Amino acid sequence: MKTRVAVHRDFHISRIDDRLYSAFIEHMGRAIYGGIYEPGHPTADADGFRTDVLKFVQDLKIPAIRYPGGNFVSAYNWEDGIGPKENRPVRLDLAWRSKETNQVGINEFGKWAEMAGIEMMLAVNLGSRGLEDARNFLEYSNFKGGTTWSDMRREHGVQDPYDVKMWCLGNEMDGPWQIGHKKATEYGRLANETSKAFKGFDASIETVVCGSSNDAMPTYPEWERQVLEECYENVDYISLHKYYGNNSRDTLNFFGKIEETGRYIQTIGGVIDYVKSKKRAKNDVHICFDEWNVWYHIREQDGKNVKAWDWPEAPALLEETYNFEDALFVAGLMNEFIRRSDRVKIACIAQLVNVIAPIRAEKNGPAWRQTIYYPYQFASLYGRGTALNVAVDAPTYDCRVADDVKYLDVAGVLDEAGTIVTLFMLNRHLTEAADLDVTLTGFAGAKVVEHLVMEGHDLRQTNDAANPERIVPTKGAGVAVEDGKLRGKLAPLSYHVIRIDVS
Ligand code: AHR
Repeated sequence: MKTRVAVHRDFHISRIDDRLYSAFIEHMGRAIYGGIYEPGHPTADADGFRTDVLKFVQDLKIPAIRYPGGNFVSAYNWEDGIGPKENRPVRLDLAWRSKETNQVGINEFGKWAEMAGIEMMLAVNLGSRGLEDARNFLEYSNFKGGTTWSDMRREHGVQDPYDVKMWCLGNEMDGPWQIGHKKATEYGRLANETSKAFKGFDASIETVVCGSSNDAMPTYPEWERQVLEECYENVDYISLHKYYGNNSRDTLNFFGKIEETGRYIQTIGGVIDYVKSKKRAKNDVHICFDEWNVWYHIREQDGKNVKAWDWPEAPALLEETYNFEDALFVAGLMNEFIRRSDRVKIACIAQLVNVIAPIRAEKNGPAWRQTIYYPYQFASLYGRGTALNVAVDAPTYDCRVADDVKYLDVAGVLDEAGTIVTLFMLNRHLTEAADLDVTLTGFAGAKVVEHLVMEGHDLRQTNDAANPERIVPTKGAGVAVEDGKLRGKLAPLSYHVIRIDVS
């Protein structure tokens, strides 16, 4: 397959916000309990945190993490998770029909996030609760001392405030499954008032208002319009969520969902622009794509089928095992986020450990990395800087969710120092290799310094506890720059990270 690509040093899309590579973790299943936290595990530290899991998390260089939910947050009392652990109440988690022991709360999570080197992005409960409890949580977390809530935090052993700058105003409030589900105008008003109170406390706080739970919701995108009309001037981001599947085992259609995501972002961008113009507003609202991942292999275990369960503690929910096809898909999705980085400033893989996650932690056993860990990691490590406006000419295909999908999917990033260009390339063709003909303009003396590749696996192959490294990236070969052109061959169904020294 013949392809042509043009990369120019001066043609940019946007500066990429580092938070494009953020994550989400919820009190759900074995994400917290049995995931990051398992007292008694051979690798657990004095606080009960698994150091094997922590190491895999640290290696991802995650900038920010959304916590504690998700659906869970909509009936969560944050005060249940503070103070001496032995006094904390055990509650019913209505979202996931489980028992919540509250052994991990804001202070434990804050400590873990600090060890992991990740900034916290906290969600408040605007389902069963409201502004009053949210503002108490803010005061407990962010005020230095001398007030009831901030002194309580100090008594709980945390002298310095967390100074959390990013706050999510509830979760998926459009979803009828949500505890405290609301109408758009009702929620929009509550979000507006909550955001105003938070910014009144600290003007540098940024807030995220809930968009639709996904682009198939019957109220999408009218929900976004109505919500934003209530709160546009007082919020900074609107959230997008989307989970992906390939139930029909149609690989090209699955990959076409990357284009579908582009349309989703474009649509919400249009709604943002519409409301901004209508209100004659001065501020910009950006997109926070704070839940995304592949989620279909184990759908039957989601909240719907646990109804018969007798409220277990940390049940093994949504423990998807990802295959090679999923890794290729995530690679393409990361490319789409980079290409849309003018609109999408924050994005969170959902979730991080055990629950639809790149990291699996076996009970009393080892932790291991799923196939999707690697494309997410490469984007996080090498996708920082400026997104380049890369032009791609390649054969295309039509599928159920999109037309004119290019078999070759490319994103390009120039690092902060202007010395390395990274090209993320996905050949989605099922049988044909892509002949590369990449023109590099403004990059005299360019030279490939690293080439990482994921290729050569059966699409359904996975890693697992017994074979944790069956699918890992390897060093690529045969791609080089000659006379200002990058040339080489990309095998069918392969993903490449090509790092070019342009200093
Ligand atoms: O990530 C799992 C769940 O998916 C989250 O709790 C919810 O926000 C979404 O529906």
